Amino acid sequence: MAEKKKKKLTTSFGKPVENDLNSITAGPKGPVILHDVHLIDKLAHFNRERIPERVVHAKGAGAHGYFEVTNDLTKYTRAKFLSEVGKRTEVFARFSTVGGEKGSADSERDPRGFAVKFYTEEGNFDMVGNNTPVFFIRDAMKFPDFIHTQKRNPATNLKDPDMFWDFLSLTPESIHQVTILFSDRGTPRSYRHMNGYSGHTLMWYNEKGEYWWVKLHFKTEQGIENFTGEEADKMRGKDPDTATRDLHESIEKGDHPAWSVKVQIMTPEQAKSYRFDPFDVTKVWPHGDFPLIDVGRMVLNRNPENYFAEVEQAAFSPGNLVPGIGPSPDKMFQARIFAYHDTQRHRLGPNYHLLPINAPKSDMNSYQRDGAARYDNNGGSEPNYWPNSFGGPDPDPEMAAPPIEISDAADRYAYELTDNDFVQAGDLYRKVMTEKEREHLVNNIVGHIKGAQKRIQLRQTALFFKADREYGERIAKGLGLDVAEV
Ligand code: HEM
Repeated sequence: MAEKKKKKLTTSFGKPVENDLNSITAGPKGPVILHDVHLIDKLAHFNRERIPERVVHAKGAGAHGYFEVTNDLTKYTRAKFLSEVGKRTEVFARFSTVGGEKGSADSERDPRGFAVKFYTEEGNFDMVGNNTPVFFIRDAMKFPDFIHTQKRNPATNLKDPDMFWDFLSLTPESIHQVTILFSDRGTPRSYRHMNGYSGHTLMWYNEKGEYWWVKLHFKTEQGIENFTGEEADKMRGKDPDTATRDLHESIEKGDHPAWSVKVQIMTPEQAKSYRFDPFDVTKVWPHGDFPLIDVGRMVLNRNPENYFAEVEQAAFSPGNLVPGIGPSPDKMFQARIFAYHDTQRHRLGPNYHLLPINAPKSDMNSYQRDGAARYDNNGGSEPNYWPNSFGGPDPDPEMAAPPIEISDAADRYAYELTDNDFVQAGDLYRKVMTEKEREHLVNNIVGHIKGAQKRIQLRQTALFFKADREYGERIAKGLGLDVAEV
């Protein structure tokens, strides 16, 4: 291997540095002299090294790779990156836990974030999903409160089972996600051994303006593997970075993790009469009703060279959609479209889209100008307004998504809680889980909720009962509660 030419150390403005160990002082013991620009520059930059961590999903790991189309679904979508079997698109994926801080343990019980940026020729498409197909809530108004309860008590700065279960027991639509979270799927063995789901329903539309409702599934080719609650607890102390290490090391040694990517497709007609609200993110579409259809394969084959540049500064947004993929009327998805770009302007600054990890690999021809850290040529001498008659880029009406029919008066509508909201959690407990999985589920819940006040335990146990009588009875028994009281 050719020897790398040894570089000379410089200041951040390129002046060669003669000494990087000793500050300039008045005499060997004397005070520091202010004209030591290198010292001041070094300290001042260090003082500003930290940026705000993500308000959720702060701990994570990422890798580069590609997505390859394996099945022709062009009748459903005009997205160019899906236009041909065999076509490859560069991707960057980031996996994360949700509630913990940047230094928290990878094996915590928590949903795992599963975010994938597709650098398509028509701009970036981001799939910002989780390893669970559903979520705890279905209206964004509840999100900040929900997240507060998963973080630390404002007085003690400790995780607090009262806060955790108080909120969930007052939020019955969370029962499906709670059942998944407290199964062993809440503690995946690694980021490679879990699936990813869009959760939300998206719109796919073709060039004729026909559209469908679609959910995305990334099925791990490594197989699902989870820690038991006990193993996860041990791993917190043994190797808090276990999933980060596993992803890095497996790619480093050429064992490239892969996921087969599938879709569920629903027609607008089917959506009108489906037994579950297709835009309610607390519900799945059972595969018996809407089978999985292959679309492609994702392979991660390259580790980041620099964690901060590529992983910490990565900015995913459900609003990053490309022609052929649009939003659905899911009200929580719409709020997410706002939230991500907003937090990223705060976390990374207004020109975060120019950072190499976030910039599209296709042309970027917008009329946005200026702002802090605008480090490209800022549009040069091109016009900075539209319409203009100086040859600036024009919008292309051909790219419009089909209109979504909307009616009704604007108001604050509550989702009506019905028995239907307990059906899928009950089916999961009864029909999908094995007896061993049910046993782990009950032990994991009891081990956590036993730290909460009895009145909260009773309220939450009533929800388990509503999902399935036996489920409720076993939790009540594990907590030593009188079933008659629940
Ligand atoms: C109203 C509901 C939600 C709101 C307001 C919300 C908000 C946020 C915010 C502010 C971030 C930090 C982004 C950043 O700093 O770059 C984030 C990260 C994330 N969220 Fe959500 N979120 C919501 C629901 C969801 C749901 C339902 C999912 C999954 C289906 C999800 C998946 C993720 C993932 C994977 C990340 C991490 C992205 C990364 O790796 O950088 N979120 N969310």
